[in-house]
Amino acid sequence: MGKLFERFPDPLARLIVVVFALAVVGVIVVFGLIPKSMMDVDAQWASAVKREEARPIKFAGFHACAECHDKLYETKKKGYHRDLSCETCHGPAKAHTEDPDKVKPDIPAQRAFCPQCHAYDPSRPRGFPQINPVAHNPLKACASCHNPHDPKPPTTPKECSACHGEIARMKAVSHHVQLECTTCHDAPQQHKVSPRAVKPTKPQTREFCGKCHRKDAKDKMAKNAPKIDLAEHGEKYVCWQCHYPHSPEVEQ
Ligand code: HEC
Ligand code: HEC
Ligand code: HEC
Ligand code: HEC
Ligand code: HEC
Ligand code: HEC
Ligand code: HEC
Ligand code: HEC
Repeated sequence: MGKLFERFPDPLARLIVVVFALAVVGVIVVFGLIPKSMMDVDAQWASAVKREEARPIKFAGFHACAECHDKLYETKKKGYHRDLSCETCHGPAKAHTEDPDKVKPDIPAQRAFCPQCHAYDPSRPRGFPQINPVAHNPLKACASCHNPHDPKPPTTPKECSACHGEIARMKAVSHHVQLECTTCHDAPQQHKVSPRAVKPTKPQTREFCGKCHRKDAKDKMAKNAPKIDLAEHGEKYVCWQCHYPHSPEVEQ
């Protein structure tokens, strides 16, 4: 290299030599050393498809199970777990469908499994059925009370507090402790069986609270209720924009 440079004393000529040498190296690398499959998009796709095709298929898909487990398949289709694939819970089961006697899928019977979806998590959509796994019937398998293929509450709860524990506990230490939930909500019996499909009513008007709180209120519960002037008191808003109805308080 040193000798080569002596033949070109002019710095500009030396620069040209260096650039030319780099260009030659570049051409060799691009056309000689990089494999064709890395430069050709079609070739890249073809090799990716081959690579994926070579992987073993582990999941059989939802409908494959229907062939032999038709009863379970039909049961599940009508229940709350209709949108869950069998293999969401039983794991990949392709091998099982091919040789059901030898290969058995997982059975997720342990308590820790179901809370992956059902443990209380504030980021889940409001109304998604959630429980506190520590407090909710501890020590027993979930499947001992809920059929995993058609989950429902095993018995219809009698009390509103079974499902609205927080509201019930709050009301129990509030000024409204003596009022029943049904004083303010008309709750059809069916609400306790399919709560999201059949909803109770909620008070809609100021006059509703006025039944007990307006000056000339006649309700039998109105006797001990502090009175307000319904026409003037907070007149632009419904009452529960200022007073939480399950624990009404008056700021001192
Ligand atoms: C070709 C028929 C066939 C297909 C398809 C099939 N199974 Fe099975 N499966 C069986 C048989 C047979 C048994 C054993 C029955 C028994 O023990 O009562 C079984 C048992 C099971 C068990 C219980 C295993 C145990 O340890 O008791 C599970 C869970 C299961 N299958 C899940 C699935 C899932 C999920 C699919 C769909 C991906 C599926 N099966 C598809 C035939 C099939
Ligand atoms: C939400 C999770 C979940 C889904 C979805 C699910 N399973 Fe299960 N499966 C379980 C659990 C948990 C058990 C164990 C039940 C027990 O211990 O009594 C079980 C048990 C079984 C058994 C053993 C026999 C029995 O009836 O107890 C079979 C067979 C089975 N499942 C097949 C299926 C098939 C087929 C599907 C889809 C149609 C499916 N499972 C969907 C959780 C699930
Ligand atoms: C992959 C997530 C997932 C897993 C795992 C799962 N569930 Fe569910 N579960 C759901 C979905 C989704 C619903 C339907 C929610 C709806 O309709 O709004 C549901 C509904 C339910 C309900 C109905 C609640 C009601 O509204 O009355 C019960 C009970 C239930 N699951 C119990 C279980 C049990 C027991 C297991 C374990 C064997 C389990 N779930 C595992 C997703 C899951
Ligand atoms: C001893 C029986 C029993 C066991 C065990 C049990 N549950 Fe429940 N579950 C109930 C009853 C009863 C209800 C109805 C509401 C209530 O009384 O708390 C219910 C309600 C639910 C609901 C519906 C809540 C709603 O807001 O609609 C879900 C989800 C649920 N259980 C999931 C589970 C999971 C997950 C497990 C296991 C970690 C489990 N349950 C174990 C009896 C049981
Ligand atoms: C089996 C469980 C369960 C029982 C028992 C139950 N509820 Fe509910 N309730 C729910 C669920 C779940 C919702 C829906 C929550 C959501 O969508 O966020 C709900 C919603 C409501 C709502 C709101 C309706 C709306 O339009 O927003 C009211 C009010 C209500 N319940 C009152 C009651 C009263 C009063 C009782 C007793 C007579 C009762 N509930 C018993 C589960 C229950
Ligand atoms: C004094 C009347 C009153 C009583 C008693 C009452 N509620 Fe309510 N409740 C309301 C009003 C008003 C709303 C509407 C609040 C809103 O729209 O912001 C409401 C809303 C609700 C909601 C919808 C969710 C929420 O927190 O806004 C549920 C669920 C509910 N009530 C359940 C109950 C249960 C369960 C009881 C008994 C433990 C009960 N309520 C007792 C007046 C009452
Ligand atoms: C059936 C009668 C009845 C209805 C309907 C009723 N209340 Fe009351 N309310 C009472 C009684 C009784 C008390 C006083 C209890 C006590 O402290 O002795 C009370 C107390 C209050 C207080 C005073 C709390 C304090 O700190 O002194 C407020 C605020 C209140 N209610 C708001 C409401 C609102 C808002 C509604 C409508 C959603 C409503 N009430 C519906 C009976 C009722
Ligand atoms: C704009 C907010 C606002 C609205 C809307 C509102 N309140 Fe009040 N309320 C207050 C405040 C603040 C107090 C305490 C100061 C006072 O007595 O004016 C209070 C006090 C009360 C008291 C206690 C009075 C006493 O003498 O102890 C009752 C009962 C009451 N409100 C009921 C209602 C009812 C019923 C409605 C609906 C018709 C309603 N409020 C609407 C803000 C409001």
